Amino acid sequence: MRVLIAENEIRDRVRELGNKISSEYSGRPLTILGVLTGSVVLLADLIRATNVPLRVALISASSYGGTRTSPGQLSVNSSLVPDLKGRDVLILDDIFDTGKTMVGLLEAIHGFSPASVRTAVLLWKSDRTCVDIQPDYFCFRIPDEFVVGYGLDYNDEFRHLPYIGIPDDHDLAEASGKPNPQCSSNNPRSSG
Ligand code: IMP
Ligand code: MG
Repeated sequence: MRVLIAENEIRDRVRELGNKISSEYSGRPLTILGVLTGSVVLLADLIRATNVPLRVALISASSYGGTRTSPGQLSVNSSLVPDLKGRDVLILDDIFDTGKTMVGLLEAIHGFSPASVRTAVLLWKSDRTCVDIQPDYFCFRIPDEFVVGYGLDYNDEFRHLPYIGIPDDHDLAEASGKPNPQCSSNNPRSSG
């Protein structure tokens, strides 16, 4: 696996984001709303890099019928979301790719009548974004590469890696439980 962003670079940028959030939301009723499951590593590190009172909540978003490179039908489950009326909400996700997930999340959260809503992500694949919004905060802008680690997964694997990496065919085949594509024509990269 090729390392795209090393552990110490992530630590530094997350600390900067924590400082920024602390100064911009000082004295405000902040709720950081982590998007399951990809944001959990960032969420745990970011909240410890802030020094203002805040609440933590979780929401789930998943897309069905998509492939590794094109999202499917988005489903947002807000059953875990607490009362957000009058609160300043910061939606936190691992990555802003096409942006469709964040648009769906914003629609869902506006229904909770918050005082304000902003978005923050670790990674922004700006070349792939095809919606009218951009993340309000991001740690790294990255090229159009499929990445894993620090919460990001392939087939629910690799979330535990402390760095952001670009998996090779061998890594992807292992995570699929499929034979190494170098030894077979069953290459997940060609599946869409
Ligand atoms: P969007 O709706 O296209 O912005 O996609 C957002 C979701 O797609 C993220 O929350 C991730 O779950 C997934 N995703 C997009 N790009 C990657 C990637 O490079 N690695 C892992 N997951 C990704
Ligand atoms: Mg995700």
